[in-house]
Amino acid sequence: MCGIVGYIGKKNAVDVIYCGLEKLEYRGYDSAGIAVIDNKKIQRRRSIGKLKNLQENIKTNSIYGNIGIGHTRWATHGKPSQENAHPHTDCNEKIVVVHNGIIENYIELKKSLQNEGHKFSSQTDTEVIAHLIEKYYKNDLLVAVKLALKDIRGSYAICAICKEDKSRIVVARKDAPLVIGVALGEKYIASDVSALLQYTKDVIFLENGDVAEIKEDSIKIFDIDDNVVDRKSQKILWNAIQAEKCGYKHFMLKEIFEQAQTTQDTFRGRISDELNKIILESIKLTKKEILSISRICIVACGTSYHAGLISKFLFEKFTEIPTEVNIASEFRYCSPVIDDKVLTIFISQSGETADTLAALRLARGKKSKTIAICNVVGSSISREANYTLYTHCGPEIGVASTKAFTGQLTALYLLVMYIASIKEVISNEQLANFISGLRDIPNKISETLKLSSQIEEIAKLFQNTKQFIYLARNINYPIALEGALKLKEISYIYAEGYPAGEMKHGPIALIDETMPVMVIATNSKVYEKVLSNIEEAKARGAKIIAIANKSNNDIVKNSDYQIFVPEVDDFFSPLINVIPLQFFAYFVSVMKGCDVDQPRNLAKSVTVE
Ligand code: G6P
Repeated sequence: MCGIVGYIGKKNAVDVIYCGLEKLEYRGYDSAGIAVIDNKKIQRRRSIGKLKNLQENIKTNSIYGNIGIGHTRWATHGKPSQENAHPHTDCNEKIVVVHNGIIENYIELKKSLQNEGHKFSSQTDTEVIAHLIEKYYKNDLLVAVKLALKDIRGSYAICAICKEDKSRIVVARKDAPLVIGVALGEKYIASDVSALLQYTKDVIFLENGDVAEIKEDSIKIFDIDDNVVDRKSQKILWNAIQAEKCGYKHFMLKEIFEQAQTTQDTFRGRISDELNKIILESIKLTKKEILSISRICIVACGTSYHAGLISKFLFEKFTEIPTEVNIASEFRYCSPVIDDKVLTIFISQSGETADTLAALRLARGKKSKTIAICNVVGSSISREANYTLYTHCGPEIGVASTKAFTGQLTALYLLVMYIASIKEVISNEQLANFISGLRDIPNKISETLKLSSQIEEIAKLFQNTKQFIYLARNINYPIALEGALKLKEISYIYAEGYPAGEMKHGPIALIDETMPVMVIATNSKVYEKVLSNIEEAKARGAKIIAIANKSNNDIVKNSDYQIFVPEVDDFFSPLINVIPLQFFAYFVSVMKGCDVDQPRNLAKSVTVE
């Protein structure tokens, strides 16, 4: 995620940028920084932690300038620290840059820049941009930025300034947002409009691949083919709170809609079609260590636990390693049989959940090799595990986890296929199919997101329901658990997730016309079995909502409402099937007037036992 701000005009850029960063703090808050040009010198202040630390820093070491850039960071590459905080400079502190996104090929770029003599002072991917611009700079920042961007692969929104030319800021964007605020004699730049609204309502949304040169009195925009283009400014009528949520009513809704992008961010830079390879640099297990794994033991809480349950199907099928999944609060009080041949995996969005952290310490004490899958860089679990695979989803603000879940699943798919390929238990063809399937997932998610209004209509019919059963089988059974959890969490309706085949051993006794059944019946080897389970519920009067594929003809007569999701390999289907269930819980919660983003009695990060 991260938030970036820039300013050029007559005001003190430091104040403008600081106010903008305050509005963007929801996009990241592990460190922040501001750089301005004053007297042909770059003045830079950076602080770790929340923005107020930067404010204190600037109070004691004040800086001033009419042109500047700022950043609030959500770490991806390099832990939260002062050196890794943006803005980043080149070797001679001539050029300074802020960046939001991920540079996929930063390691190779860094190596070649180092060979050319560039000195790096951080572990970030961003710093390569500053050095690349330095390399190409010949008295023209715009030209240098354009050349630097040619070398870069990945996603970026950047702002760059050069101490030798305080008349312009050069910005660019690809797969990360950037808007320009337009006012007479001054210009603003930000990751989203919330940071600009207090200054101007007239904004230009840059398009993918755009590069712009921004001066006090002019804006020149170049499109992806380097043609000068005229992007019209628009009037923004949102208030500040709407703007923070990018116009969505709640953070949860915004986060549901972000999932096409965030799943892509999770696999970005980690799969290579050319090499037919998965590249997980942070997982430094040797081939010998991987071959010696006798068992995988996954530990997590809540939604993260459900991601773990899905991965059990995948680990066992593709890596041939027996896998168990544990709830962290239980794991730590049983007597886990763990030794150095057991790989333990800890899944946690926050990386701070007390029970998961305690379980990790227990596993390390037993010499297990530990991997963390976390969203928050530098969190306790990510620091204490031997290796960490970050999900790169950006801050998740809604208490009910959505994009972090699909990010965790994506990271787990990568890890499964990585281990399977090192063990050589999958063929090159299987790996190639996996890579192309995963690449297509963001498109399939985008298609699924279009179902929101249809799901809203169905939700209207069930808003007064007191109870719900969610059924599914096999790899989608954990999605039934997750769907039920979402409904409980935010709409306070009692919901139970159950393996459809197990219904006849108990829950079927609950079924009558007051108990609606949400069932996942997408194409799979268990589809026919699920159909029979639907009939059992329908015969007892339940209303059936089916998540299905259009090719499932029987589902229309067997169910009352159908939500047709795009068809994907069964293996990837949890990533798609969860989305209608997130929407359903969301819309029911809104209709019931519940506090969607901060449901009663719940917390985003549970740091107590
Ligand atoms: C809390 C949150 C859930 C989350 C769970 C585990 O209960 O409300 O959304 O799934 O903690 O959190 P973690 O940060 O470890 O994934």
